[in-house]
Amino acid sequence: MATIIGGIATTHVPAIGNAIAKGLQNDPYWKPFFDGFKSAHTWLETNRPDVVVVVYNDHGLNFFLDKIPTFAVGAADQYQHADEGWGLPVSAPFPGDAEFSWHIIEQLVGNEFDVTSCQEMLVDHAFTIPLALLWPDAAKRPTKIIPVEINTVQHPLPTPARCLKFGQTIGRAIESYAPDLKVLVVGTGGLSHQLDGERAGFINKDFDLFCLEQLVKTPEALTRYTIPQLVELAGSQGVELLNWIAMRGALTGRVSKVHSNYHIPISNTASALLVLDNHPAKQTELRKAG
Ligand code: DHB
Ligand code: FE
Repeated sequence: MATIIGGIATTHVPAIGNAIAKGLQNDPYWKPFFDGFKSAHTWLETNRPDVVVVVYNDHGLNFFLDKIPTFAVGAADQYQHADEGWGLPVSAPFPGDAEFSWHIIEQLVGNEFDVTSCQEMLVDHAFTIPLALLWPDAAKRPTKIIPVEINTVQHPLPTPARCLKFGQTIGRAIESYAPDLKVLVVGTGGLSHQLDGERAGFINKDFDLFCLEQLVKTPEALTRYTIPQLVELAGSQGVELLNWIAMRGALTGRVSKVHSNYHIPISNTASALLVLDNHPAKQTELRKAG
C-alpha cells in the first residue's frame, strides 16, 4: 500500500524563481532564505519519496475569475508550466500519475468533496517554485507529481475547517492506494502577506509563528478562524495558509517536526518552511504489538 512519509510546506514567492534563475542563492538578501532549505534537502535525501502531491493555489493561469473551482485535482500524465506574467523561465513539463490521481478523485467525490478533475492543467509559480526549492537538481526529483489546487483567490474561499477535512480525505485516499509507494505531501504559499490595498506589505509575525507551532500537533486549532478573520490576521494573500492546512490534514499518522525556518521578508511575504515526519498509524501499532 502507499504510505505518507511526511509533509513539507513552503512559501512560493515568484521572486525566488528569479533568484534561482540568476544564481543569487549566496547573495546576502537571499542566503538566510535558501540556507533554510538545507535540512529539507537532507531529509529528502534520506526519505526519497516516489510521488509528491502538491497542494497549491493557481494565480489566474489555469483558472481565471470567470470560472474557478473551489477544489481541483490534476488527472494527467504530464503538466505544462507557463508563466502567468512574472517573466520567470518556463520549466520542462512535470510528469504526473493519472491512475493515482483518479484514485484520489474517486475517493474525494465518494466522500462528498465534489472536485473538478483536470485532464489538462497548466501549473504556475505556486507549483514550480516549491519543487525547485526542494529539489534544486531537477534530475533528483520524484518522477510522479500530482497537483491539487485550492481556490485562495476568488471569494468565497473554503474555510480552514473544510481544508483540513479535504486534506484528511486526501490522506486516507493515498493510504488506500494499492501500489507500494512512498508519498510526500507538499503545501505551498503563505505565510502572512498582502500584495494590494491599504495594507499592502502587511506581515503578522506573531500569527505566523503561532500557525507554525499549531500545524505540528494541533492543526484543529486553526479551524476556528473564519476567512474574514484569516484575511485580517494573515493578509489577503496570507490565506494561502489554507494549502498548508490541507497538507497537514493529509498526515494521518503520528506527526513530528523535522525542521522549520521563518524569514522576513522575501519580497512582500513572510517566508516560511515546515518539514514534518509522518509515522503512519499502522506502523506505530505494529511496533507496539511487536
Ligand atoms: C508574492 C507572494 C505570492 O504568494 C505570490 O503568489 C506572488 C507574489 C510576493 O510576495 O511578491
Ligand atoms: Fe501566491
